[in-house]
Amino acid sequence: MPKSKPTVLLAHSIHREVIARELKPHVRVLIAKDRADLAKKIAHADGLITRFFDLVDEALLRKAPKLRAIGNFAVGYDNIDLKACKARGIRLTNSPNVLTRATAELTLALLLAAARRIPEGEALCRTGRFSRRGGGWQPDLLLGLELKGRQAVLVGKGRIGSETARLFSGIGLKVAWITRDDSAREIAAKLRGAQVLSLHVPLTPKTRHWLDTRKLALLPKDAIVLNTTRGPVVDERALIETLKKKRIFAAGLDVYEHEPAIPLALRRLPNVVLLPHLGSATEQARAGMARLAVRGVLALLNGGSPANEVKF
Ligand code: GLV
Repeated sequence: MPKSKPTVLLAHSIHREVIARELKPHVRVLIAKDRADLAKKIAHADGLITRFFDLVDEALLRKAPKLRAIGNFAVGYDNIDLKACKARGIRLTNSPNVLTRATAELTLALLLAAARRIPEGEALCRTGRFSRRGGGWQPDLLLGLELKGRQAVLVGKGRIGSETARLFSGIGLKVAWITRDDSAREIAAKLRGAQVLSLHVPLTPKTRHWLDTRKLALLPKDAIVLNTTRGPVVDERALIETLKKKRIFAAGLDVYEHEPAIPLALRRLPNVVLLPHLGSATEQARAGMARLAVRGVLALLNGGSPANEVKF
């Protein structure tokens, strides 16, 4: 009897073309409608493809007796309980490199938008308040910050942090880093000079609430905080208080502590630019991520060792 094809479960439909061309010819494909459906269908899955917020924990894995491989359609994998996977011999791939440039470009876009108050200006135009009656152009309308020569401090010197640093340098920012080797005193000194603070560390127990009230208080008054990594790296409540009191100039956020929920208090603030987790949202990056997830899962199911396997 011919060996039956393995089953790969998608936590959500991703990149139809890649799935049709690269996955469907090799395996039986199931697509979960929602979390409850995922918990049901996982009983049949040899492989699983997840998004960055699909929690793969003990509770789910208990329902997955056949599962051997996970392809995370994301570079960050804080959604996966590695210990629980290891105990069951489940292997994992992620999607590095293909989204590096897209995420760095989005970080730069957030910086420019926050520094030049672009969403406030756009709102003025869209709501008809930029009008003769509204006063029209004025010499002090929405004054922002010029970025050339300012000091940027990047937290995390990985692929995305390094690419962001290259873009920042390209528009004339000075770049410094905070790395895990820095002492508390060195970190404090760098934060005091950080006119742009950009976060690029993965979410781990050590980086959760890395940017807290104490660190926020060290930033200069003209600082711009950027977060394109994971929401919980910032103590969101502390950031809201800081922005409310205008202790810093602005923030640019692509991620949130309890995503996709964005607190009303944050949404009401004019000095923050808010985006719906668009870091890797380019056609190129998303196709590359889909290919990496699909090829990763297939390679693992075939006993291979793909370059994007996460070792743990
Ligand atoms: C997205 O946030 C990712 O980790 O790829």
